[in-house]
Order: sequence, then structure tokens, then C-alpha cells
Amino acid sequence: MQTKTNSVLQQLPKLIITEDGSTTLEQSQHNETYHSIHGAMNESKHIFINSGLRAFHANQEQINILEIGFGTGLNALLSIIYSIAEEVKIHYVSIEPFPVSLLTVGELNYPEMIGGNAEELFLSLHESLWNQPIFVHDMFILNKILSGVQEVELSQNAFDVVYFDAFSPEVQPEMWTTEVFNKIFMAMKSNGVLVTYSAKGQVKRNLKECGFIIESIPGPKGKREITRARKP
Ligand SMILES: C[S@@+](CC[C@H](N)C(=O)[O-])C[C@H]1O[C@@H](n2cnc3c(N)ncnc32)[C@H](O)[C@@H]1O
Repeated sequence: MQTKTNSVLQQLPKLIITEDGSTTLEQSQHNETYHSIHGAMNESKHIFINSGLRAFHANQEQINILEIGFGTGLNALLSIIYSIAEEVKIHYVSIEPFPVSLLTVGELNYPEMIGGNAEELFLSLHESLWNQPIFVHDMFILNKILSGVQEVELSQNAFDVVYFDAFSPEVQPEMWTTEVFNKIFMAMKSNGVLVTYSAKGQVKRNLKECGFIIESIPGPKGKREITRARKP
């Protein structure tokens, strides 16, 4: 039987170039892009790295990150680079039911935009096995889980930072429900933060209903506000 989720995502994504010169993918059925057309790299850095990881990181020696939607691996690449530069250990768990093929990954231009050893790191992230923790670097353990967030079992009180990077509520409303947010809330440590690009009223109300404290903060180019939610 075909579920709503796989009918939305089954077709091969198309490569497009966003306004900051970085590539992204577009899933064809709803013309939904994996990142903002105003700049994929800029969006990832602003929302997930600067408003999530960097904002949370004070003196911790290790940060546990949960990502919803591994997709192109851009957030993971920027996070491993952060962990090496800032000398903080990161344990990164990413949930993804529909991995991007290595052929398509090879067309993404993030490593060449970043330079240094980004190419090698990007390949290691994509080639690392699924459903087991892998040391991609001394500072970075990756555990990619081949599953939807609805089906996965998450440890309780485990995560400091959550990158909630699902397709939009218009395309995948089933991702932005109180059931999913409640599951993530239980998996987070107290004082942990969830960041997402959506500033939709219903999304914020659902997060609030699960116990999160909501902050609306300035977004990247093309987006007035984004949401940061803290577990009290
Ligand atoms: C907006 S894209 C962002 C992906 C990624 N963070 C990136 O930077 O490329 C959303 C991702 O969520 C994934 N996804 C779809 N259904 C999902 C589900 N039920 N649970 C977790 N992820 C899902 C999609 O396959 C896609 O890779």
C-alpha cells in the first residue's frame, strides 16, 4: 500500500542553484525544495548552526544533536566542521526514510564552496553505514537512522539540540503534529533547544502544547522569522 509520505517523495529530486550559489534539491511532485531558494548554505548556517548549535554551545564538552531529515547532509557537514573548529564533541543522530542517492550527492556543491577537507568529510558522512554509530572523525559520531520519525524509537532525555528540518507543513502536515513534537520533547534534555525554519502559527501552538517555550527569532534572507523552542 502506498502511504501519503512515500507518494510525495518517491520521484527523483531535481538539482537547482539557490541565490547564494549553493545547490539544493527539489522534489518534483510539489516543487518543494530541501532548502530556501534564497540560499541553501546561508539558511543552514543561520538557522541550524548559528541559532541552534552555536546558541546552545557554551562550555559543553559534548553536544548531542538530533536531526529530522538527513536529506542532502548539509546540516551534518556544517556541524562536523563546527565540531572540529570549536573542538567540541558532537554525537549526531539523523532520521531519514528516503536517502538521497550517492549519484545525486555528487552533484551538490557544498564541499567546493566550503573548501579545505569538506569534500572528504561530506563523502564520509554520506558513505557511513546506516543504523549504527560511526566515528566519522575523532570529534564526531554519526548515527543515520533509516526510518521516519513517527516509527523510530528515541532515547529519553538524550538530545541537547534538535534540527527540525522536515518538508513544510503544507506538504507534510503529518510531520508537524503534537504527536511528533511530544516524542521529540521527551527525547530532549531539559534546557535543550529545537530550531526550525517554520514560523507558522499552528506549528508554534503545537510546540507550545507539548511544553516547549517558544521564541520567534529573525530568519535568514527571504524569511522574516524562524522558531526556536526550548524544553524547560
Ligand atoms: C527539507 S528536507 C531537508 C533535509 C536536510 N536537513 C538537508 O539539509 O538536506 C526534509 C527531509 O525530511 C525527510 N523526511 C521525509 N519524511 C520524513 C519522516 N517521516 N521522518 C524524517 N524525515 C523525513 C525527507 O526525505 C527530506 O530529506
